[in-house]
Amino acid sequence: MLGSQGEILPFKDVFDQELKGKTVVVRVDLNSSIVEGRVVVSSRLREHAKTIYALCEEGAKVVVLSHQGRKGEADFIPLKRHADFIKKFVDRNVKFVKWDENFVKAIKEMREGTVVVLDNTRFLDIEEAKGKTAKDFVAVEPFKSLAGVADYFVQDALSVCHRNHASVVALAARLPSFVGPVLKRELEGLKKLEEIKDGKLLVLGGAKVSDSIEIVESMLEKKLCNEVCIGGLFGEVFLKAKGVNFGKSDALFETEEMKKLLPKAAALLKKHGSRIVLPVDVASKPNGGRRELKLKDLPVEEAILDIGVGTTELFKKKVRASKLVVFNGPLGVYEQKSFEIGTKKLLETIAFSRCFSLVGGGDTERALFQIGLLPQDFTHVSIAGKALLEYLAGKKLPGLAALENGV
Ligand code: 3PG
Repeated sequence: MLGSQGEILPFKDVFDQELKGKTVVVRVDLNSSIVEGRVVVSSRLREHAKTIYALCEEGAKVVVLSHQGRKGEADFIPLKRHADFIKKFVDRNVKFVKWDENFVKAIKEMREGTVVVLDNTRFLDIEEAKGKTAKDFVAVEPFKSLAGVADYFVQDALSVCHRNHASVVALAARLPSFVGPVLKRELEGLKKLEEIKDGKLLVLGGAKVSDSIEIVESMLEKKLCNEVCIGGLFGEVFLKAKGVNFGKSDALFETEEMKKLLPKAAALLKKHGSRIVLPVDVASKPNGGRRELKLKDLPVEEAILDIGVGTTELFKKKVRASKLVVFNGPLGVYEQKSFEIGTKKLLETIAFSRCFSLVGGGDTERALFQIGLLPQDFTHVSIAGKALLEYLAGKKLPGLAALENGV
């Protein structure tokens, strides 16, 4: 399944360096679900907090970079609450510093073993500027000043390495740069799976559907997976492209993004339809309960919230016949008990079958916890979502390229 990334561990481990008294800027991924204004604590948050703790223990002055949410969306908030969580977790002096304050002064005043969490990097205009190289980004403020007061850069988040964003790539062009423990573990886990050459199945769901079509296309084209089972909103996109009318859920296909996706899904079905396994039934929520619907029962006046039991069995059969299964994104609204069935049954089948398994996505651990599975039930659990898929599809990730190119 895995696209070749060449030598994937050519990076130097930050913990092989002498860190005492060094100012270490670490790019982590604190991007979390925000529920009623509160940050949902996930394994992603805890894993990166462990990195920050370990750097403090070595006597480093730790400067934390992360984004949260996307511009214009409700979860696009400052990192103050994330900083509060880190403070509790590491039990040390942790200061939250806005970009519009004198952040350089705050960093210069740091003592060994303390932390500065800089605010949401996506608040900076430069962060997502198009067409820039790492060198361009680091030549302008605030990255120019940040590089000026730091000794080392550490990349710790595979989940952001697919973004050519300033906070992901800039500092590697100016500072000695290293891999952090979370990213290292991810790369080592993926490396183990690279040896499997056949019987590779991708099970794909989740709600972030833009860009996923290109990834699926690339994986099918390059034979990086033999078949793909698609559920969740992504599965509905393909069914819609085949002419299925859902009824109420059709409202989802009115956005500009969806209007662009549908013809792409139709083209992909035409080209690789025999290797794309789609839902044969779905489940809706008429009056608070779960209703199983064959595709011929559609359209209906309720929202579709899960794959149906027939589809679950079909996907399970595919899993049992595979040597390697990659599961990325839930197949329904698993947060609601009645609609966790597709996701739960598939993950259980993957966990208890003899296949090698890779489970990814920002929310995966929450799903595992809810359905009573543990990360150790799988060969590797990744806290990356889209970045993981891009990695698997053999795309060169800017964050890794920046580390490789280094200074
Ligand atoms: C993620 O949650 O997958 C990462 O934090 C990347 O977020 P993005 O898709 O908004 O770039």
